Amino acid sequence: MQRLEIPVVSYNTRTAGFMSALGFGLGADGVWRDASGCSFATALTGKQTPAAASRTWGCQMNVADSENLHGQLQALGYAASDDEAVADLILLNTCAVRGTAAAHALGEIGRLKQLKLERPDVLLGVCGCLTQMPETVAYLREHAPYVDLIFGTHNLHDLPSLLARAYRDEAQTVDIWSQAPETVEHLPAVRGAGVRAWVNIIYGCDKYCTYCIVPTTRGRERSRRPGDVLAEVEGLAAAGFQEVTLLGQNVNSYGHDLGDVDFADLLAAVAEVPGIRWVRYTTSHPRDFTERMVRTVAEHPRICEHFHLPVQSGSDRVLRWMNRGYTRADYLRLIDAVRRHVPDAAITTDLIVGFPRETEADFEQTLELVAEVGYDNAFTFQYSPRAGTPAARWEDPVPAGIKKDRLDRLNALQYGISRRRNEALVGSDCEVLVEGASRKDPEVFTARTRTNRLVLVPARPDAAQRFGRARITAAQTWTLRGELEHVEAGA
Ligand code: SAH
Ligand code: SF4
Ligand code: F3S
Repeated sequence: MQRLEIPVVSYNTRTAGFMSALGFGLGADGVWRDASGCSFATALTGKQTPAAASRTWGCQMNVADSENLHGQLQALGYAASDDEAVADLILLNTCAVRGTAAAHALGEIGRLKQLKLERPDVLLGVCGCLTQMPETVAYLREHAPYVDLIFGTHNLHDLPSLLARAYRDEAQTVDIWSQAPETVEHLPAVRGAGVRAWVNIIYGCDKYCTYCIVPTTRGRERSRRPGDVLAEVEGLAAAGFQEVTLLGQNVNSYGHDLGDVDFADLLAAVAEVPGIRWVRYTTSHPRDFTERMVRTVAEHPRICEHFHLPVQSGSDRVLRWMNRGYTRADYLRLIDAVRRHVPDAAITTDLIVGFPRETEADFEQTLELVAEVGYDNAFTFQYSPRAGTPAARWEDPVPAGIKKDRLDRLNALQYGISRRRNEALVGSDCEVLVEGASRKDPEVFTARTRTNRLVLVPARPDAAQRFGRARITAAQTWTLRGELEHVEAGA
């Protein structure tokens, strides 16, 4: 493959040029201020401490992007707020992967029209994968002229200058790049609460599955340099984070563009960083998941034994139409390698039903594969045509009712398997990371197993964000119930 030579630049160095021209420098408190001590956000809004709110749709990569957006906002002097009613800036970080995700975000943009009418001084920005689709920009220009700022996935590190333009311009400010001309390191981040952190290792996707919009919205694959990833993980460990999840649309192709390093090497190196207890990664592509990578997981006790291996379909001809690059037999060989090397592993997957021209026979092969592998969990989707992808142009004689029926049958099968696999754990004892109070019931705490199962335990405030052991007492389809037997002392 032709190597992409993408320059690497540091965020603060890059931002300093723009900022110093406007008379701002990075203060000791990490906020860009002018000579009189006024923050950039105050200069933009005229308010002492303006507040910024955001919404995020989509995958963990979008969640990580939002953490970087918030990191930048904090450095500009914005306070974070989860109340849109009082926010001076509202950012919507959108997802385009399926029609439903797109519709949610567009619905939210429609709803915010009223707020903009009532408070025209609020700055409304839309970014993320959806804005990388030209039809979204055309739609927002026509139907949502009240959106002040539209930017994409490749220029989110330009937030300071994008905001300056949006405050200055009368008309809607639109700035979308089709590719990333450079990799920006040392982006500031406001991480979620707790001891778990996301770390991007590779951006973009070169796989071009025929149904998928992601290569359009995220561009060509670009790996971060191993030293940059390790430096970030070391910094996280020093800040008290104990679990990292390495992120990419296809983590297994990490290093293709660098030449002398692959995902197994990086995973092993991250697993050696002192202070990091658990290492996870998502998402994997079965085609690029080598046996050496499976062995790396087996050999490093800190790498969690959870394999998310999206198969999409059990039919070889559908896999070919999807351009997945593996056959059912190839996939089952990978599953076999996982079971041999990591016998206790949880295996999860993504499945699409109702791909154009999928027949009942194709679908039954998916059902058979699901039963044969015995997934611990599966994310199941009805095929959603995405503008600009090859599959969206194909004839599709399968009626919508049949697609829905296939999704229901697949879910019924998988729910039974998930439940049985959970039931098999009742009576066992497993290592968990306790999160904190569950959203629904303060008397219940949630905890995660190494295999990423959710365990509900009786509330115990001193256990939040600690590692411990839980005895599993009952199983449901999605969750386990358990008792905390032991909680480690804090770090
Ligand atoms: N890079 C990851 C996943 C990206 S999107 C991978 O290749 O596995 C997450 C999941 O959304 C995909 O695995 C797929 O199952 C689903 N998906 C993507 N595009 C879709 C579409 N057009 N219709 C329905 N499901 C889709
Ligand atoms: Fe989309 Fe396929 Fe890339 Fe996953 S591997 S992001 S499904 S194109
Ligand atoms: Fe959605 Fe973009 Fe992620 S399309 S799934 S937010 S990469």
